[in-house]
Amino acid sequence: MAIYTLPELPYDYAALEPVINPQIIELHHDKHHAAYVKGANDTLEQLAEARDKEAWSSINGLEKNLAFHLSGHILHSIYWHNMTAPKEGGGGEPLAADGVGELADAITESFGSFAKFKTQLSKAAATTQGSGWGVLAYEPVSGRLIVEQVYDHQGNVGQGSVPILVFDAWEHAFYLQYKNQKVDFIDAMWGVVNWQDVAKRHAEAKDRTPLITP
Ligand SMILES: [Fe+2]
Repeated sequence: MAIYTLPELPYDYAALEPVINPQIIELHHDKHHAAYVKGANDTLEQLAEARDKEAWSSINGLEKNLAFHLSGHILHSIYWHNMTAPKEGGGGEPLAADGVGELADAITESFGSFAKFKTQLSKAAATTQGSGWGVLAYEPVSGRLIVEQVYDHQGNVGQGSVPILVFDAWEHAFYLQYKNQKVDFIDAMWGVVNWQDVAKRHAEAKDRTPLITP
């Protein structure tokens, strides 16, 4: 029985043009994201089978696979909603006038300014080696926002930090359109950021019970 399911896109394949073309969105969602969902479900079944057979030597590899596929599913599920078309309000900066003042204040408090945050997240995404993500996360122990550079889908992550804005820097996210120009893709991504969605995730993350006492 499948535990995880592929979520539907919140827009059609062409909605993010010209920043991301429809072919990329279709392949990225219908093939790549779908593969992580299937991988997570398959790995849970394989872990159950390994437990039943007491095949403990396979646990290490299966746990790595579970972390990879499950994290891939989660990050992509956030990614689709982190973006919206410019005509729908995507891009720009989070502003109090748009109802996202708390997020704007948190960014300034944590990074010094929006410009400094933008540079840090852009560099984190653009300097991934191989496959990875640039992530803005809420860190519950300090109550601050941090930028993380995620290796694959699951490496370099602070336990308990909650991703609220994710930039996919895997080649499958841009290569068909931007070829090897990852920096150009990252720059363009800022034009489709859905700040309403990021602010909602920030507020929800802050409301969670802290993992530990600071
Ligand atoms: Fe991806």
